[in-house]
Formats: sequence, structure tokens, C-alpha cells
Amino acid sequence: MGQWDASVAEWYAEKYGEYPTNRLAVDRFDWEDGLVVVDIGCGTGAALRHVFTKANMSRLIGVEPIPRMIEIAKERLEAHPARDLIEFIASPAHTLPLGDDMADVVLAFDSFDHWGDDEARNKGLQEVHRILKPHGTFLVVKDGGIADAQAKERFTNKVKAQRFDILDEQHIEEEDVVFTMWTCQRMRS
Ligand SMILES: C[S@@+](CC[C@H](N)C(=O)[O-])C[C@H]1O[C@@H](n2cnc3c(N)ncnc32)[C@H](O)[C@@H]1O
Repeated sequence: MGQWDASVAEWYAEKYGEYPTNRLAVDRFDWEDGLVVVDIGCGTGAALRHVFTKANMSRLIGVEPIPRMIEIAKERLEAHPARDLIEFIASPAHTLPLGDDMADVVLAFDSFDHWGDDEARNKGLQEVHRILKPHGTFLVVKDGGIADAQAKERFTNKVKAQRFDILDEQHIEEEDVVFTMWTCQRMRS
């Protein structure tokens, strides 16, 4: 996959826009009423549309840097019952235009690897830490999983270095997809 732009967004949305990981990963979290959920690199908004079915959410916010992807996400929301609740913000992960301590749950489904170079990814993790409430949850999905133990450790060390605890790591093979899902918790400090 090359640089994200309007034509890559159209190709991705057509081919993978409703990819099963969005549903399968959301199904593995214990959702409750009143949560503020932010999905970074939300693509077509498939994960947020599924989160909507889980409980009475307070706010559902999709963050996406590609304007064409946001247009597609809005098109898919037009006739959906969540259309009045889900909002979209045009932004990359490393400069989130959201307040401190405002989110209960942040999602990065198959998006962390697209946040830019190492510096941008670290800044993105700092932004996730800043917008999450203390002890808020950061759910990370990597499609295909990470078979290589060293690559897995590099990723988890990077997350821990930005003041997250890793509460859980699941390797999931279901419906012809394979993915790894980490449940991380923002440390209080
Ligand atoms: C592989 S897609 C995953 C989309 C969606 N989360 C899903 O699982 O179907 C990666 C997404 O990350 C977005 N993206 C690209 N650069 C980004 C950045 N710097 N910060 C946040 N998201 C970015 C892309 O536009 C794209 O929607």
C-alpha cells in the first residue's frame, strides 16, 4: 500500500472497507453505556458503526487524515441508525485536535503502522495518552498478527514507553482472518 490519498482511500474502502477485524475485535471488548470512543485511522467507520450496536455510547469520533475517506465514511453512515452519533475529524494521529482526558476508549485498528515514521508514531502514542482518561483503554489491532516475537516485543516496548500497561494480548484466527489485539491501559501519570 503506498501513500494514503483519495484514490488509495477509494480502493481500500471498496476492497477492505468492511473488513471482519472491525467487527471481531469490537466483539471482544466489554462495552458499557456512556463511553466516549475515538477511532484513529477509522477508515470507513466500520468499527464505530459496530461499537454503536453494543451499548448507549456518549460520543463516537472517527479520526482520519484523508478527506476522501471521511466522505466515504459519511456515505456509509447516511442510512445507518448511528448517523446522528458518529462524528469525523480530519487529522493524523500525531496532532489530535481533541481535549485532554476526554476519551474512555481509543481504537487503532490496523492503523498504527500507518501513522508515519517512528517519531510520528511516538507522538501519536503520546496523543492517545493525552486524550484518554486515566486508566482509559487503548485497543490496538494488527491485521495478520505479528508472527515474529522480536517485532512483537518492539511494538509492546514502544507502547509501554509511552506510559501504557499491556493488560492483554490475543492472537485471533476467525472467519479467514488472522489478527493480534492488544488491550492497553493508560497509566495514571
Ligand atoms: C489499513 S487502513 C485501516 C482502516 C480501519 N481502521 C480498518 O481497520 O478498516 C489504515 C487507515 O489509517 C489511515 N491513516 C493514514 N495515515 C494516518 C495517520 N498519519 N494518522 C492516522 N491515520 C492514518 C488511513 O487513511 C486508513 O484509513
